[in-house]
Amino acid sequence: RLKIVTIGGGSSYTPELIEGYIKRKDELPIKEIWLVDIEEGKEKLEIVGNLAKRMVENAGLDWEIHLTLDRREALKDADFVSTQFRVGLLDARIKDERIPLSHGLIGQETNGAGGMFKAFRTVPVILDIVKDMKELCPDAWLVNFTNPSGMITEAVLKYGNFEKVVGLCNVPINHIMHESKLIEKNPDDLFFHFAGLNHHHWHKVYDKEGNDLTELVIEKMFNSNEPIVKNIRYIPFFKEQIRDLGMLPCSYHQYYYLQDDMLKKELEEYAKNETRAEKVKKVEAELFELYKDPNLKEKPAQLSQRGGTYYSDAACELISSIYNDKRSTMVVSTRNNGALADLPYDCAVEVSSIITASGPKPINFGKLPTAARGLVQVMKAMEELTIEAAVTGNYGTALQAFILNPLVPGGQIARTVLNEMLVAHKKHLPQF
Ligand code: NAD
Ligand code: G6P
Ligand code: MN
Ligand code: MN
Repeated sequence: RLKIVTIGGGSSYTPELIEGYIKRKDELPIKEIWLVDIEEGKEKLEIVGNLAKRMVENAGLDWEIHLTLDRREALKDADFVSTQFRVGLLDARIKDERIPLSHGLIGQETNGAGGMFKAFRTVPVILDIVKDMKELCPDAWLVNFTNPSGMITEAVLKYGNFEKVVGLCNVPINHIMHESKLIEKNPDDLFFHFAGLNHHHWHKVYDKEGNDLTELVIEKMFNSNEPIVKNIRYIPFFKEQIRDLGMLPCSYHQYYYLQDDMLKKELEEYAKNETRAEKVKKVEAELFELYKDPNLKEKPAQLSQRGGTYYSDAACELISSIYNDKRSTMVVSTRNNGALADLPYDCAVEVSSIITASGPKPINFGKLPTAARGLVQVMKAMEELTIEAAVTGNYGTALQAFILNPLVPGGQIARTVLNEMLVAHKKHLPQF
């Protein structure tokens, strides 16, 4: 029977994961689930871990739930390791959002300067985890959710030299559910072909007869003004531009295609001390109050205020697909291997893939339209440099990545924001 480990077990998302495992109890013979955290997250781990125990017991299952601060003890002989940690917790995210905004730049968890700093803090930790895995559970799969998910996956492949890694995100599933509804079809009767990078992908939609429905979905998208994920306020794209592109952008493209409008909204939130991280901090406090209730034995509805809807469907389905060689189609971050002809072979891309016992097999997308190719090549180069800087601690490489990022203008401002963030996050940046 399986031993599954979750690093960052104190996350408020953990009940979501546990629910996903319970739903799949007949396909996943689980014996033990180990939730790992660190000293700073000890209290959260206790609270959410006890809820996890009640959920499992309530479902009539004999699974052992272990709570620990000892990562090595947890990793010993694990079959699957999922990662959902946040170095520096939400206070670090507040800095990632507020420092760029204080200079008039987009402040976001995975995009722009904030996303690059999240990578700088996270890469050393994930490489440490990989080192432990190679020693203690070399055959386990690493299922990474930790953001920036695509860059973290690439760091594991390139610098950790560890092949059994898959990066996940819930955004593609949110698009699939949302757009199926828009055209009144069952998602199982459609094929969504995704290609690009994590939080920077596009997709096309086909039906069972092979008809290309992309144009239809694009038109429907303009008639709907619901946000796709809770954390991104909806602003409609330019119709002419998206029609010309011929693919559906993901929600995160709003930061690039509608940069000034998005910045304006963010600056309003900044002025009110209501950036996304500040709001999430309040939601998190409410969630943990609920989690403490000994009568609560299921995932509470309030968790849907977070951006991670369908998080567990992605994680638990991936684990089941690998374990059972289900060959289901999922959108994952994995080594490109030529699926996107416009990007390096050895980089991580987020692409529709067939999930087998030997991991994801990306479905070839071929060449992207010129507009997407140009942007994604800049973004990938920026990611490669960000990861390199995170590993080496080289200031010049970090500055290079900053200047290349479309959300950071070149010039003195790049240097100023970089320097200020290096000081603000010093505690979590031993490599610099
Ligand atoms: P959080 O701030 O609650 O952090 C989760 C836990 O990680 C905390 O309990 C913290 O103590 C712990 N932690 C920090 N450093 C650690 C370390 N070195 N080892 C072990 N545990 C450590 O974060 P959250 O809001 O629950 O999000 C968790 C992570 O998942 C973030 O990185 C977030 O960006 C990511 N996320 C990704 C997706 C996706 O689509 N890929 C969706 C949702 C969340
Ligand atoms: C989406 C993204 C995640 C991101 C999350 C933020 O689900 O896919 O990568 O971490 O939103 O949500 P939050 O509620 O923390 O703002
Ligand atoms: Mn994501
Ligand atoms: Mn730039």
